[in-house]
Amino acid sequence: MVFKNLTLQNFRNFQYENFEFDKGMNVIYGQNAQGKTNILEALWLFTGAKSFRSSKDSELIKFQETSAKIDLKFFAENREQECTININKSRSAILNGVEHNSTLGIVGKINAIVFSPNDLNIIKDGPVFRRKFMDTCLCQLYPAYLGVSKRYVKALDQRNSILKNLKFNPNMEEFIEDFEKELAVCGASIIKYRKRFVEELNKYLPKIFSGISEGKEKIFIFYDTSAGENEEEFLDSLKKSRFVDMQQQSTTIGPHRDDLNIEINNISARVFGSQGQKRSAALALKLSESAVISEITGNTPIALLDDVMSELDISRQNYILNHIDGWQVFLTCCDIANTKNLTNGKIFEIENGKIKL
Ligand SMILES: Nc1ncnc2c1ncn2[C@@H]1O[C@H](COP(=O)(O)OP(=O)(O)O)[C@@H](O)[C@H]1O
Ligand SMILES: [Mg+2]
Repeated sequence: MVFKNLTLQNFRNFQYENFEFDKGMNVIYGQNAQGKTNILEALWLFTGAKSFRSSKDSELIKFQETSAKIDLKFFAENREQECTININKSRSAILNGVEHNSTLGIVGKINAIVFSPNDLNIIKDGPVFRRKFMDTCLCQLYPAYLGVSKRYVKALDQRNSILKNLKFNPNMEEFIEDFEKELAVCGASIIKYRKRFVEELNKYLPKIFSGISEGKEKIFIFYDTSAGENEEEFLDSLKKSRFVDMQQQSTTIGPHRDDLNIEINNISARVFGSQGQKRSAALALKLSESAVISEITGNTPIALLDDVMSELDISRQNYILNHIDGWQVFLTCCDIANTKNLTNGKIFEIENGKIKL
């Protein structure tokens, strides 16, 4: 997939601007608060998802205006295509002449991954962020995963509510078994999906990470489950942990407590990684995610990289600028010095919602 041309009208701080993109690397450079991230945000909206920044569509419209329009010409599935998104009170889209009264209608047609400084939380914060990283991608790829996750959460809520009430009402223990069975069925399926996803990521991750770190460092990730390998083991573990769970009044094992362990040179990236290593690992994970999506869907997502350069040393910057092969990249940065080693591609300097000529 290649984005060719973008027009922004009354979008954020852009009144009217047109961008003709390079098929490989596009650097968007400028001082703070000039509109760089706004451009990535506009591109992201063509995935049909909500903005990665604000939840309100009205914030996307230029102050004092009543509507915004963004228009993208792109190449995918061996043909030129065009998508327009109109933003009034809500968002509607026109894809190749076909109108959709919500952008849900275009979900799945245009793929992108976005990487922003926030994504560092995948490496440095609690397991919830790593589970979210896996789940977000799995839900996009497999609708069945979303279904089984919902069933799991429901059964979990039911088991937890019994655990809370058990001391007042000991007879309820007989009901807990049904929910444990449902938890084991759905939980084992979630674990299987996630493990397979981690295996898929592992096909790409070491190479991408070693590219970013110039072969000096090795990354290794594995899915760390508290619940056992299959339905029977999980059910067995649930029974065994029932007593502890009663005291804690919550279910202490299962995919809702699992983690994705990330090690660099055999030690935990979260605990021991430097800022640069964490950033590189998060970026490598995102790019691997993109490789998995492209293997499964046949469409290579666009990579939107927001502010990734600042904490990386020259060689890591160099890799990002010149060696992310096979992806079209949109990269924002504040310091033009970070891009001096760019060999191919295009640089857009942005000032106050305009391309500076
Ligand atoms: N709806 C809007 N209308 C006009 N300007 C906006 C709107 N939303 C954000 N801005 C302006 O956009 C600028 C921030 O753009 P952003 O892309 O985040 O900057 P950066 O170049 O630092 O990435 C700020 O000056 C902000 O005031
Ligand atoms: Mg920004």
